[in-house]
Amino acid sequence: MRIIIINGPNLNLLGKREPGIYGDQSFEQYFKGLQSQYPQVDFDYFQSNIEGELIDRIQKEGFSSDGILLNAAAYTHTSVGIGDAIKAIDAPVIEIHISNTFSREDFRHKSFITPVAKGIIVGFGLDGYRLGVEALLKS
Ligand code: DQA
Repeated sequence: MRIIIINGPNLNLLGKREPGIYGDQSFEQYFKGLQSQYPQVDFDYFQSNIEGELIDRIQKEGFSSDGILLNAAAYTHTSVGIGDAIKAIDAPVIEIHISNTFSREDFRHKSFITPVAKGIIVGFGLDGYRLGVEALLKS
């Protein structure tokens, strides 16, 4: 099984960025642990701060991977283009958020991804990515 994790803007700063909300671990550290927990999964990881690069990667992986774990970060709340890209592909997309977006500002309650995602995992910290892997393995 091939699973790609796609992270959006500012998630390259995990570990340094607002640790009270996002924790103190970098994604690279977390990703190494995830890979060793699931040796049977062929993982890939991509992060970009640029909306078009995220869309390009969703299109590229959307016909070759078995699933995408997508944390589009702030673009979740603004990007019609990312929502349309998810509609266009075959692979299931699971929307991930580290924080509970519904307990934060109102603008974080709107998602262009939720209506086109297979499911959402919100508010469980970085463990949300592992939960996403479990969901894809079971589907
Ligand atoms: C986030 C929540 C978004 O609202 C925010 O813009 C992020 C991270 C999360 O993982 O909790 O950058 O997607």
